[in-house]
Amino acid sequence: MEFFTRSGDAARVKTGCAVLGVFEKGQIAGPTGEIDAASDGLIARLRRAGDLPKRPGEVLLVPETNGIGARRLLLVACGKASSFDMKAFRKAIVTSVRSLRRVGTTDAVVMLAPAGADEYNRARHCVEAATEALYRFDELKSADKQPKPKLKRLGLYLADGRARSRANRGIEHGQAIAAGAEVAKRLANLPANRCTPTYLAGFARKLAADTPKMKADILNETQMKRLGMGTLLSVTAGTEEPAKLIVLNYRGNPGGKTTALVGKGVTFDSGGVSLKPPPGMDEMKFDMGGAAGVIGTMAAVARLRLAANIVAVVPACENMPSGRATRPGDVVKSMSGKTVEILNTDAEGRLILCDALTYARRFKPDAIIDVATLTGACVIALGHHLTGLMSTSDKLAESLLAAGEAAEDRAWRLPLGEDYDRGLKSNFADFANVGGREGGAVVAGCFLARFTEGMDWAHLDVAGTAWKSGTEKGATGRPVPLLVQYLLDNA
Ligand code: BES
Ligand code: MN
Ligand code: ZN
Repeated sequence: MEFFTRSGDAARVKTGCAVLGVFEKGQIAGPTGEIDAASDGLIARLRRAGDLPKRPGEVLLVPETNGIGARRLLLVACGKASSFDMKAFRKAIVTSVRSLRRVGTTDAVVMLAPAGADEYNRARHCVEAATEALYRFDELKSADKQPKPKLKRLGLYLADGRARSRANRGIEHGQAIAAGAEVAKRLANLPANRCTPTYLAGFARKLAADTPKMKADILNETQMKRLGMGTLLSVTAGTEEPAKLIVLNYRGNPGGKTTALVGKGVTFDSGGVSLKPPPGMDEMKFDMGGAAGVIGTMAAVARLRLAANIVAVVPACENMPSGRATRPGDVVKSMSGKTVEILNTDAEGRLILCDALTYARRFKPDAIIDVATLTGACVIALGHHLTGLMSTSDKLAESLLAAGEAAEDRAWRLPLGEDYDRGLKSNFADFANVGGREGGAVVAGCFLARFTEGMDWAHLDVAGTAWKSGTEKGATGRPVPLLVQYLLDNA
């Protein structure tokens, strides 16, 4: 999809379809008013006839017009004018673009505007939402591929032409974020028999090869063994699929600050010997959602040519049961030297992340952020709306929360601390990999905190937000928008 801006008299904008907002109380103002006036009160007549769409999600296509530049109108219900915020705007864009899929036009111009938003953000979120609305994962379907939508060009109407350069910047950022989120979605949607650690490594290598200032370094199991990554290797022990430690190093600001991103890349989590129950186990192909988010973020960074230094470290492996698999009760030694008693082989994410966090120290990051589909407990705590954020740094936590707000990809802070950490006590090793069930998201955070002393570290638990279940089953691309926003703010 191509995006552009248009300004001037709304009634004269030449397009296959103008997308107009209709509010609950039927206010006709702004571009809607200009179009209404120029088309001899068309919209007021529709309102009197009771034909205007009412609830958010509803639309009315007016297939022919008179007296205006737009050949068609798509009227979109936007709810109350006062509560038409960025979130509602994004929903209206998704509804509009999905409706336009079934219309013959190749271009359209969006004339909706959320209350109080600047044109940079309006443009950016319009691009993100429109791209999201058109996303399909059909590369593994041989038949019934849906016909490609006719819509090729989507414009944003600017009431004030002077905002054009800001809007264009919003389009550029929106395209980069949307492209990064699509990378994350695709990698996460691919099943585990295709998206193996080796596949992820190959993808990262290609991204680096295509990107100036980005280098890929892929470590194999022999190299990991030499580094003493005993906790990571204990997770991959049961599978035939070779594990990889994927490192992407982007240096867009030599001499400047470095941010490290660490993403959990369990390409399939069966639970290992502590086998998961069958229902929903297929969704554990999404257990590399953190890795997908980090790699997607690097793809966005590459496209933006961000003036920042970012190192992505992705421990990638499978968690499978077998005669060689790690057993509950086994004690393993992490790269940091700390020993861990594995009481539950299904708490594997923290075991690969701790070695990756230790490895990331060699890049001397000013901030380190890990992203992981880490705990079912986080889904119980926050549901599917907010990502769980834990951090030992208030400053880092606050800037990540703010980034989530701005990017419409929100997180919620959970605590850490010794009351929770005590659950990890072990009689046989330095500590165990699990505590009790209560507060499980925080206990997992405490486990990771034991490997990040002295670092500005934050942990994003995306177990509830990286994918959707049910009829809309599929990856969401989160937290790519949050992470890119954080990097834009701190670059
Ligand atoms: N990948 C899972 C977490 C998960 C579960 C994410 C369900 C999304 C939906 C993780 O490896 C796991 O199995 N965690 C265990 C930890 C427990 C054994 C302490 C969990 O959450 O049950
Ligand atoms: Mn698990
Ligand atoms: Zn897992």
